[in-house]
Amino acid sequence: QKITKVYIVACGSSYHAALLAKYAIEHWARVAAEVDIASEFRYRDPVLDPAALAVGVSQSGESLDTLLALREARRRGARVLAVTNVVDSSIAREADAALYTRAGPEICVAATKTLLAQIVALELFALTLAQVRGTRSAEEIGHIIDSLHRLPEMIEDVLSREKEVDQVAEALAGARDFFYLGRNVGYPVALEGALKLKELSYLHAEGYPAGELKHGPIALIEPGTVVVGIATRNPLWEKFQSNIAEVKSRGATVVLVANDGDEETARQADAVLWVPETEYLFAPIVDVVPLQMFAYSLARLHGHDVDRPRNLAK
Ligand code: G6P
Repeated sequence: QKITKVYIVACGSSYHAALLAKYAIEHWARVAAEVDIASEFRYRDPVLDPAALAVGVSQSGESLDTLLALREARRRGARVLAVTNVVDSSIAREADAALYTRAGPEICVAATKTLLAQIVALELFALTLAQVRGTRSAEEIGHIIDSLHRLPEMIEDVLSREKEVDQVAEALAGARDFFYLGRNVGYPVALEGALKLKELSYLHAEGYPAGELKHGPIALIEPGTVVVGIATRNPLWEKFQSNIAEVKSRGATVVLVANDGDEETARQADAVLWVPETEYLFAPIVDVVPLQMFAYSLARLHGHDVDRPRNLAK
């Protein structure tokens, strides 16, 4: 109830879940939240107030950088919360409290289901903060929780569209460069989509906040570049449409993740990955699934072992 700030540290996919937590904590609970890559936080001489909360997000609960970043935060007086999938892992043991995602063992190296569970856990935490601090009414929180209950069905629905995702992947099997773009909560989704493609397919992929496009990366857009846009409804949907128009006019092949029935978005796209619409802060939980499937499909088309990507370890 009394914390003044939330610092979240993580690596890899967990860092993307952490970025989404920042949107939820600030929007719902009105507490400032900062997110750091664990390996940067631990060496950057951070300023922490004793009323701050440090949150470490780690699927395995064993990533050394995250563990040591949390140790550093605690040394500077912060209380520590672990969000992890592994009960009794090192990070959970050293924390003041642990929030377990309990998604079952993540067998492949690249995180998939555990990422969804991390986002849910962190957003529930944000809602709990909103509740105890009184920034959202019980009624509003009740409505939000109702949409949360509908997510499993929506994700099942997205998973059943595997053939459509495969067709898009087949059409792009020869492409070498992929730009993933999003804004607001679509931005961490873009980062995660690009990371999954790199990890599994070994293709060049970059995730960018689309508003930054004009400050450099747009120079790289040319015919043949694939742009994957997270174009589902969020407060910046309209601005995002103009970002897509910019890359389209430079000849990019555009694949958009769009809400079912959104023909306006579909008109801008060469291919669409359709998903059901939900409360916008939960949209990443649904929107990331076709991107995981897309990376899986492309990796298989390129003949790679999706469970054991080269150079990566858990
Ligand atoms: C490894 C994996 C990534 C994972 C990261 C963080 O580098 O290749 O897929 O996201 O570790 O793992 P953690 O267990 O801390 O979430």
